[in-house]
Amino acid sequence: MAIVNENYLKLPGSYLFSEITRRVNQFKKENFDADMIRLGIGDVTQPLPPAVVEAMKKAVEEMGRQETFRGYGPEQGYEFLIEKIIENDFRPRGVELAVDEVFISDGAKSDTANFQEIFGVNNILAVSDPVYPVYVDSNVMAGRTGTVNDKGQFEKIVYLPCTEENGMKPPLPTTRVDLIYLCFPNNPTGMTISREELKAWVDYARENKAVILFDAAYEAFIREDGAPRSIFEIEGAREVAVEFRSFSKTAGFTGTRCAYTIVPKEVRAYDGNGRAHSLNPLWLRRQTTKFNGVSYPVQAGAAAVFTDEGKKQVRATIDYYMENARIIREGLEGAGYRVFGGVNAPYIWLKTPGNMKSWDFFDKLMREVHVVGTPGAGFGAHGEGYFRLTAFATRANTEKAIERISKGM
Ligand code: MLT
Repeated sequence: MAIVNENYLKLPGSYLFSEITRRVNQFKKENFDADMIRLGIGDVTQPLPPAVVEAMKKAVEEMGRQETFRGYGPEQGYEFLIEKIIENDFRPRGVELAVDEVFISDGAKSDTANFQEIFGVNNILAVSDPVYPVYVDSNVMAGRTGTVNDKGQFEKIVYLPCTEENGMKPPLPTTRVDLIYLCFPNNPTGMTISREELKAWVDYARENKAVILFDAAYEAFIREDGAPRSIFEIEGAREVAVEFRSFSKTAGFTGTRCAYTIVPKEVRAYDGNGRAHSLNPLWLRRQTTKFNGVSYPVQAGAAAVFTDEGKKQVRATIDYYMENARIIREGLEGAGYRVFGGVNAPYIWLKTPGNMKSWDFFDKLMREVHVVGTPGAGFGAHGEGYFRLTAFATRANTEKAIERISKGM
């Protein structure tokens, strides 16, 4: 008799974004002529930059010729891409990395979900609340939590409330935690953290022998000076942090898939006898066993992001999305909404009018003005009464959506 992994049975309902798609598809079936505008899942709408397309075409041509054909690539990624990442994304910020500390992957979602595998099942994890659901769900699947309560919170997870009162910054835990998920600029609230605040987390992790899993997938959207773009800008972070980055939102790779994770050699976790083990060889072991790398044409395309042309084109795309963010933020503020984020991140977090429940607001928006967003409650108990809109739609749809919300709600 085959027995299921019962941890999966602890997960209520479907994955957040699948549930939203299900509800929208159902609504579309009953209202096939409704002109829906989707500001729900953070999926991009601007095409791959021309420099990326050119590099991909060239790489595909190479794959079609005997002399330049490539089979399996290195599981950790091609050095031509890793070197460009170090040279462009880290060295200018004073962060030195070795080539074997960068792992190319098919997405920050997969890496943030998979990285927990190299930790013991008894680690206590801390997450912000609201939080990107992948961090929680992947740990539930692994059996690191108890069951869920009626607020949607799992036993054995320490939830760090991010509220209007604390500026949506997660407070340091007051009980023991071993694994800490941080995401800045934050998904879903769109808020950033200062260097001093991030240093407090690094110091906490060093004092408590904890590990910080730092999701920096949205760092390219930071507009204000001073906000750290990498946790490795903070002294001591190499001992306690892993960082996740992605080409998805910056260079349009949500469908193409390319990301990377930094695992410094100094970051360690301990065995039952208190002996320290570097996480870098463990992650390499995991990746070489379970992953065969990202395809050559995709990595060649990602490397083109760092050419002069590529940089210009990516900057223009980010400017485009951040202009959408401004339109959403200012439009909603003008319509009387309380709004957060959208300054250093492509997400706008708003308080629902009249304290409406997040899913009720979702339904109302979908049914009355045909705009789809993401209910804050889907990100955690402290997201109840809030709602997230993304800046990744086209300009025309962004403007239309804000006009509809302002006039129709
Ligand atoms: C989101 O909408 O939160 C993101 O698209 C999720 C993701 O990148 O997986």
